[in-house]
Amino acid sequence: MTRNHPDVTLLAHNYVRPEVQDAADFVGDSLELARLATRTATPYLVVAGVDFMAETAAILNPDRTVLHPEPCSSCAMALRLTPGDVLAARAAHPDAAVVAYVNTSAAVKAEADICCTSANAVRVVNSLDEDEVIFVPDRNLAAYVAARTAKTIHAVPAIGCCPVHQALTADEVRAARAAHPGAEVMVHPETTPAVQAVADFIGSTAAMIRRARETPAATVIVGTEVGLIPRLERDSPQKRFVPASPYLVCPDMKMITLELVEAAIATRSPVVTVPEPVASRARTALERMLALPEA
Ligand code: 13P
Ligand code: SF4
Repeated sequence: MTRNHPDVTLLAHNYVRPEVQDAADFVGDSLELARLATRTATPYLVVAGVDFMAETAAILNPDRTVLHPEPCSSCAMALRLTPGDVLAARAAHPDAAVVAYVNTSAAVKAEADICCTSANAVRVVNSLDEDEVIFVPDRNLAAYVAARTAKTIHAVPAIGCCPVHQALTADEVRAARAAHPGAEVMVHPETTPAVQAVADFIGSTAAMIRRARETPAATVIVGTEVGLIPRLERDSPQKRFVPASPYLVCPDMKMITLELVEAAIATRSPVVTVPEPVASRARTALERMLALPEA
């Protein structure tokens, strides 16, 4: 799609509609998109994903113009946490570092010490000098990290979760397994600990794509947003991919249609703006994450 617009790079998340993924210059998980946003050089970046992904690209590229085709497309988990919640948690745990999942607003990132994604959360937490960590805003990813680090993790808010992944039950996973004997079950760390306990593999969307290439299983049960399935099918065409539940649909990701992407490129709008000083404080937390060695 950007062939006729050499000044534009289109980045798409693994959960957006397949036709938008097909049109993109790069498709990836949250960490890959954040890195790619800093490694491409066009004056315009279009981010096909939810708002925090476009905001992250804008924060990391203050001299470029970032377009978000549908500003209404907002991560429901990110909306559940305010900067005031982070300040209250800091007051309650004054010795703790604050790790903000990228699925947060710029204002929340500005109050964090470092950001993380589902791909690097354990590495980020283990990189810190502090033994105590306030982890926002996903309690399921926090539990996943807590099980893999010696540090004390305070999940804030206590009820923070992704409504899409939270809806998947361990019974649904067991039923999918019974229907597909021999299949491998892959789930995202945003699923509940009960679901993670019955999975064979837990990882970010990019980690699932890599695992799908390697697994000897002919069928894979996918415990994440259904948008990943066409991506997996393109990447590993000889394997069969089955959703763990039909309800794993993120409506905000699906708001990004091909028509809206085309309109954003044609009109060079809507432009993402993150006001100072929030942008520079959030940039510090993001750049600290990106400075860690890649796995
Ligand atoms: P990934 O970073 O694994 O792509 O996940 C992003 C997201 O929004 C998960 O719900
Ligand atoms: Fe947010 Fe969940 Fe949608 Fe990911 S799938 S963007 S965490 S609401």
